[in-house]
Amino acid sequence: MGAELIDGKAFAARLRARIAGEVAALKAAHGVTPGLAVVLVGEDPASAVYVRNKGKAACEVGMESFEHRLPAEVSQADLLALVARLNGDPAVNGILVQLPLPAHIDEAAVINAISPEKDVDGFTVLNVGRLATGQRAMVPCTPLGCLMMLRDRLGPLGGKDALVIGRSNIVGKPMAQLLLADSATVTVAHSRTQGLPDLCRRADIVVAAVGRPRFVQGDWIKPGAAVIDVGINRTEAGLVGDVDFDAARRVAGAITPVPGGVGPMTIACLLANTLTATARVHG
Ligand code: GUN
Repeated sequence: MGAELIDGKAFAARLRARIAGEVAALKAAHGVTPGLAVVLVGEDPASAVYVRNKGKAACEVGMESFEHRLPAEVSQADLLALVARLNGDPAVNGILVQLPLPAHIDEAAVINAISPEKDVDGFTVLNVGRLATGQRAMVPCTPLGCLMMLRDRLGPLGGKDALVIGRSNIVGKPMAQLLLADSATVTVAHSRTQGLPDLCRRADIVVAAVGRPRFVQGDWIKPGAAVIDVGINRTEAGLVGDVDFDAARRVAGAITPVPGGVGPMTIACLLANTLTATARVHG
């Protein structure tokens, strides 16, 4: 028997519908419309697509979207001035600065200039620290979406053996923190990890976020495991994940496809965070 597909697209559509309902209720009760400001620096085509999709998704659930496009040569001072203006703007509840930023800009300085209460990416050191210490935090969108799908599929995650492959600040590290907070037994693997196939064979939950096409092999998967594929790799064969999907689906209990798995959940969780940020001010 093959794995059940975890349909991130359908899951995200349900989440967006719920958010739209709550946005309408917030408007009716408090006359407030959640506002999301998205900042894009430079002309990177992939980033431009992501930013456009984020703005569109915000509008579709009844939020206000403010898009700020700055040239690649913008000075750090000007970018920081924009962030400061958005921090002080009561119509803006969530701020997202699309990464990566051009090399001349200190990314950490810009991210940490975002008000932690408007940090809907959950990237500021304050929110990272809050998550790591079990305090109320804004949680990064991609791992939040993965967690929602895992809880939905598996129920409580306590005691499960989870392997996170990848240690990025955006996905791997916060994913590990979230799984730990749910009492899973968490291993974080990365490019220097030895014996990865055997680590993987022990895991009830595999989250693959390494950015290498079809890196995780089918015979690394424990029968019945839940496999979440965060990878989006553009290859000659089209978009593929970090997992060899065709092989892994024969062994896994549940698996996310690429595309249509984690991707749609990331944007839905951004909207969820924007709603949360708004409700904390006006709710
Ligand atoms: N670049 C790639 N993923 C992300 C994300 O989730 N947020 C931001 N701000 N930039 C990104």
